[in-house]
Amino acid sequence: MNAAPASAPPDDPQFAGAITRETTADAAAVDALVIAAFGPGRFAKTAERLRERAPLTTGFCLYEGGRLIGSVRLWSIMAGEARSVFLGPIAVDKASRSTGLGGELVRVCIEEAKRLRLDGILLVGDPPYFSRFGFKPAPDAVLPGPVDQRRVMWLPFTETAPVGAVRPDA
Ligand SMILES: CC(C)(COP(=O)(O)OP(=O)(O)OC[C@H]1O[C@@H](n2cnc3c(N)ncnc32)[C@H](O)[C@@H]1OP(=O)(O)O)[C@@H](O)C(=O)NCCC(=O)NCCS
Repeated sequence: MNAAPASAPPDDPQFAGAITRETTADAAAVDALVIAAFGPGRFAKTAERLRERAPLTTGFCLYEGGRLIGSVRLWSIMAGEARSVFLGPIAVDKASRSTGLGGELVRVCIEEAKRLRLDGILLVGDPPYFSRFGFKPAPDAVLPGPVDQRRVMWLPFTETAPVGAVRPDA
């Protein structure tokens, strides 16, 4: 049901299975996991408005015993002049948290964005979690709606910074 492994296993894996690239067969399970993790309120968010219009670049999944326990998606966007992906939602099943899976999903996204030679990764998320991967505040990225600007974060790969309107890269 799933595609080939998308990453090498971590040095000290605490979870079984491999992270795979999302296929259409995964979509319903991903939606269910995200709704369980975030609740229905997520659909009101500005991030969701952007995801509704941006092309899906790719997604990554992790199954354990046939059950989806982790997922993340990347969306093709421009952030000012910066070619980028918008990361999210990222969700790990409650029972599987704090085993390093969320970190592995972020790392696979970073590998993918570098492979695509993008300028960086943008997200709206909790700075205490994402700063550990090198994400920094992006005060000049203008999301298409209200957002807590302190939660808008950027992981740079090039000198091109996210300054200006964040919009789908159609
Ligand atoms: C955020 C999430 C994906 C992390 O998944 P995970 O598999 O538990 O992540 P990891 O195992 O790599 O990291 C766990 C560590 O991150 C910390 N952490 C998790 N969420 C955090 C947050 N929002 N802010 C700060 N720290 C956080 C945990 O306390 C834990 O710390 P510890 O290692 O000191 O115990 C998961 O908690 C989740 O699905 N949350 C609900 C959905 C959500 O809020 N997603 C977006 C976050 S902005």
